[in-house]
Amino acid sequence: MGDSGARPVCLISYQNKSNMPAWLTLNDLALTAEGALDPATWAYFSGGAADEITLRDNAAAWQALRLWPRVLRPLAGGHTRTQLGCHALPHPILLAPVAHQQLAHPDGEWASALAAAAQGAGFVLATQSNVPMERIAESVLADPGRGPLWFQLYWQADRGFNRALVQRAEAAGFEAIVLTVDAPLQGLRDRELRAGFALPPGVRAVHLPHAPPAPTAPDTYCAGLPAHAPTWGDVAWLQAQTRLPVWLKGVLHPLDARQAQALQVAGLIVSNHGGRALDTAPPTAQALPLVRDAVGREMPLIVDGGIRRGTDVLKAIALGAQAVMIGRPVVHALAAGGPLAVARTIRLLRDELEMAMALTGCRTLGDAGPALLDPTLSADNAKKPYHHDWD
Ligand code: FNR
Ligand code: LAC
Repeated sequence: MGDSGARPVCLISYQNKSNMPAWLTLNDLALTAEGALDPATWAYFSGGAADEITLRDNAAAWQALRLWPRVLRPLAGGHTRTQLGCHALPHPILLAPVAHQQLAHPDGEWASALAAAAQGAGFVLATQSNVPMERIAESVLADPGRGPLWFQLYWQADRGFNRALVQRAEAAGFEAIVLTVDAPLQGLRDRELRAGFALPPGVRAVHLPHAPPAPTAPDTYCAGLPAHAPTWGDVAWLQAQTRLPVWLKGVLHPLDARQAQALQVAGLIVSNHGGRALDTAPPTAQALPLVRDAVGREMPLIVDGGIRRGTDVLKAIALGAQAVMIGRPVVHALAAGGPLAVARTIRLLRDELEMAMALTGCRTLGDAGPALLDPTLSADNAKKPYHHDWD
């Protein structure tokens, strides 16, 4: 919206077809990426667990929500700024942790982290990154316009190793730890298995001593990860090892959200791992309002899964999230056009968000509440979502 007054503006416009990029939307971007990647890598990036019901539901659930336009409301001076814990963000978009980004581009996570910084987006580096965390931090931390820089932890069997990894992230300048809790084992990745995906030589999870378990036949799953899968006690232990805020990623159930709140975690990422963990888990658009209701207004919440349009971002904010993360679009953009395409992806989503805000009469994100989705809610109730008894 900027400060351009009441004049209708088109934020996304191209003078003529010759300067129009090959993709105009995040969904187009996926098609471009599919053409640029070999079929097995495409299956790894785009696939979900089992029958991919949750994968499909994630996007469909955002799409199924209806935004009620509001008219004639003052929009001048509008903006997308928001507060996420201690971070003031220019807009509510972060890049989700996505493993093995060198499969999409030789510069891997370094390229996406730079693009995020250039667009003021938060960046969460995966444990299974192909680029060392120090290289990312050195390149990003000095940028005054950057968003938050966080490290995602996949719990490892050896507590000492977890401590060392977290302390390493702290020393490098990362600002929070995101403990992923929804994948004690890899979901059933049937699409990947069918496509015969395997990590090519040279693409390595550089923070781990040996390669992570490759997708294997289902009868081997129980032999591996669950024995050392983290528990609530480990979350408390982790919090005691670091001065950094600890977020939990992959919480859907309101009772789990309550338990996390009792441990005073910094915030929650409402996520079903982009439909890659438990198939038939609910879409995040369904879980988010229940989690918000369970934890009250104060706890910071981020949501991810199937967010592809500015309208999806606005719906997420209306349902109680402070921010959203995008996963697959990042690797799609890397494959389609490297760091510039990642930057453009973030910008596009932000521009679309601004348009959706203007058309729903929201000058700021603080104006977005459940009444955007349900006009029968009174102004009083508009910011107190739902009334369930989780005790
Ligand atoms: C992921 N995701 C993920 N999450 C995590 O905590 N650690 C990880 O290493 C990965 N790796 C990963 C790889 C790939 C190829 C994908 C697609 C996803 C999940 C990710 O952080 C995020 O939750 C989802 O991708 C969000 O859904 P969308 O935006 O991809 O629909
Ligand atoms: C995945 C793991 C790495 O979703 O989180 O592929």
